[in-house]
Amino acid sequence: MQLQLKNFTKRFGDLTVIENLDLTVNSGEMIALLGPSGCGKSTTLFAICGIHRMDEGELLFGDREVSDLPSQKRNVGVVFQNYALYPHMSVFENIAFPLTIKKQSASDIERQVNEIAELVYIGELLKRRPAELSGGQQQRVALARALVRKPDFLLLDEPLANLDAKLRLEMRSEIRRIQQETGIAAILVTHDQVEAMSMCDRIALMDAGKIVQFDQPSVLYTDPANKFVASFLGNPPISFIDPIVDSGALMLPGGLSIAIPENISAQSKVQLGIRPESFGPQFGTGLPGKVCFVEMQGREELFDVLLADGSLVRSIQPAGSGINVGAQIDWGVAADNVLMFDQNGARL
Ligand SMILES: Nc1ncnc2c1ncn2[C@@H]1O[C@H](COP(=O)(O)OP(=O)(O)OP(=O)(O)O)[C@@H](O)[C@H]1O
Ligand SMILES: [Mg+2]
Repeated sequence: MQLQLKNFTKRFGDLTVIENLDLTVNSGEMIALLGPSGCGKSTTLFAICGIHRMDEGELLFGDREVSDLPSQKRNVGVVFQNYALYPHMSVFENIAFPLTIKKQSASDIERQVNEIAELVYIGELLKRRPAELSGGQQQRVALARALVRKPDFLLLDEPLANLDAKLRLEMRSEIRRIQQETGIAAILVTHDQVEAMSMCDRIALMDAGKIVQFDQPSVLYTDPANKFVASFLGNPPISFIDPIVDSGALMLPGGLSIAIPENISAQSKVQLGIRPESFGPQFGTGLPGKVCFVEMQGREELFDVLLADGSLVRSIQPAGSGINVGAQIDWGVAADNVLMFDQNGARL
């Protein structure tokens, strides 16, 4: 089923936190609402599940308008960061809860709970209480409870935030597997770009109550709409330098010059974005500097290089270069992969 949020505006008192936001989630698709803390991700999700009323706008599930329906009539499955399991109930009773309040027969309930428990691999745990489960297992129970009544949409608000790094990795692919096996359209709220990139078909990147760009993860990474998108995605992050614009070319400190593409009109000021994988000795020379930081990351090493004009450019290289802090280097840039921005941060 398709979800459409149109012209959504949300205010808290005098403060408008979301203004005229449009969002479409297609059938079977999993999308991320990604963005920094406070940008309005949860507020948007809460409006979709009916916890918040919308001040303006329309919400459609398929072609049915649901804006005025209370939460329990919207048929959405929600999973929150803290799972919100009922501590005094067994796993079975927790998962069955949404069905018992619908007054289904005991045998029907048992069949559906068992079915969903198999899907999320917790068939063995049904008699336990939440306190007797690991964080990852609790997360699976919360997912089972959200899915048991076959909701039209699965809504996830930072569902992995309370798990340790290894479990988070495991649950990332588990949630994606379950979403794909059930074919349910899903919205994942997260501030973790890696989570959004690895789990979702499309990412809606938000900033200050607006969607800045909504596209496939690879498009946001390689073709960002502006500086905010370019900086938000990528770890280690992109570096920016301010070249001097001189007769149609960008002059970088150290002598390297990059031609300004013809389709970009002459700008008085252009900012360059260079990703760490686009700066290094494999791209020749022309951008000399001093290594001021080295971080060993196992397979790779991360370098911060200080240029003559005081700007810092990062590079990621295979480990074992033997280059230490203080070394003078002269590396090159993959000119085709450099991103250009105008003085307001818009992509050129
Ligand atoms: N009940 C509320 N009353 C007043 N302001 C609120 C309320 N809920 C959220 N806000 C404000 O609305 C803005 C968006 O909040 P929201 O919780 O949607 O952010 P978020 O993107 O989910 O952030 P985080 O990543 O920290 O969870 C923030 O400025 C927040 O302070
Ligand atoms: Mg939030």
